[in-house]
Amino acid sequence: MLYPNIIVRSGSSFISGQQYKTLKANLGSCIGIAMFDKTNKVGGILHTLLPEPYSNFVDIEEKYASTGLPKFIDELIKAGADINCLEACVAGGAFPGEPNNFDYYINLGGKTAEKVSKILNFYKITILQWETGGFFSSYLTLNLSNFEASITPVIEDGITMVQDCNFKKPEKTEIEEKADSIKPIPQIVLKIISMINSSSASLKEIGKEIKKDQVISAKALQLSNSAAFDRIYPIDTIDEAILRIGEENILKYILNHYIKEMFSSSERGYSLCKGGLFHHSLSTALINEKLCAFTGVESPQTGYTAGLLHDLGKILLDQYVSDSRPLFYRELVKQTKNITDVEQELFGMDHSEAGLIIAKKWKLPQVIHDVIKFHHNPEKAEKNKIIIILTHISDILSSWYMTGVLPESSKIDITLDILEKVSLTPQKILEFTHKLPLKEFSALFPLQLNEVSGKKECVKVDGGVLCH
Ligand SMILES: [Fe+2]
Ligand SMILES: [Fe+2]
Repeated sequence: MLYPNIIVRSGSSFISGQQYKTLKANLGSCIGIAMFDKTNKVGGILHTLLPEPYSNFVDIEEKYASTGLPKFIDELIKAGADINCLEACVAGGAFPGEPNNFDYYINLGGKTAEKVSKILNFYKITILQWETGGFFSSYLTLNLSNFEASITPVIEDGITMVQDCNFKKPEKTEIEEKADSIKPIPQIVLKIISMINSSSASLKEIGKEIKKDQVISAKALQLSNSAAFDRIYPIDTIDEAILRIGEENILKYILNHYIKEMFSSSERGYSLCKGGLFHHSLSTALINEKLCAFTGVESPQTGYTAGLLHDLGKILLDQYVSDSRPLFYRELVKQTKNITDVEQELFGMDHSEAGLIIAKKWKLPQVIHDVIKFHHNPEKAEKNKIIIILTHISDILSSWYMTGVLPESSKIDITLDILEKVSLTPQKILEFTHKLPLKEFSALFPLQLNEVSGKKECVKVDGGVLCH
């Protein structure tokens, strides 16, 4: 029997008593620990990212195995579990790509798994299942009705989906025509994208542009009066809204709103969970924004838009991925192929090429064209190389640590050569992983009713505790 899922995001945990729901954690390089006491009917999932803090500063305890796991065990006991009855299933820690020297150097998934193992041994907790490593993302579930846990590789889910596959390779013109049926993005949004990318636009100019569009003005006002911002007094003008929210935030919210509408919420195409495509775009945007600021070699605003739009082509190809399942996923498993090879073979076009059709149609800035075209092959780019490399790295970090369950690729590499070009080293990437924008992600992508993130406190529900 399938029960509704409660998604446990990166850097969170969820503990509950018996109920007809299933906990689910989508894992790339992160480690998911399902722990339960079947006798006392209490269990939960911890979704942790890294082995231990980089410094004394810990912003989110669940982010680290060394701080999150002892706390998780403690809370399970407080919720009624008996330490002697606790059992665990552990998954994740993948290299979602073909391992190269860089991956082995970093191997954070492996280090987090090691830490988890040590802590579980210390507490003498029985490990029923341990499936870490491998090349692909997986998901860990815990059925709260019977406290049974399971681990499923994402790619396997795509392959085993029962579906008649009478897939016929589409004509290029068919895909191009499909682009005409995509709802056009409003001119004002395109203008905002250009303004963000030209650092010369002032707050006043942006305000003027926002004021010209009634729908966007209304959204900006609604947002500035929402719970996400301090509502000291209600405001009713755009200028006040911009002051309260900040020019950058307002642009982000507006962009996110329109881009989210474009991405399919299908669970049968690229994404194997609802909203996965937008989840991936937004997390890449936030990571890229932060990585640009961290390296200081590119504007964070450009990083944000580049991340948000890099996979635009998936909007056009999503339907074909869905129609060609399970063939698409079977091909992806072959380690010699990366996602763009598989797309070329099956659809006659990859998502970089498909993205360019939309970029041209929307007249996006040249820098975004280049990012879309080369984000899987940054070494081939001649212009805008820095932002392309940074987006490439952010894309990979997003699949590793903030996965929206996209089988992004079976072969993605960050090479030392590429890192050098943006003044990065494996050590610096390691340092950067501790700064991943989990809180910012939660603020911009509010939790769906069935998601949990950034646990702060626990409250009693349904005979258990709901941590939020
Ligand atoms: Fe991509
Ligand atoms: Fe991507």
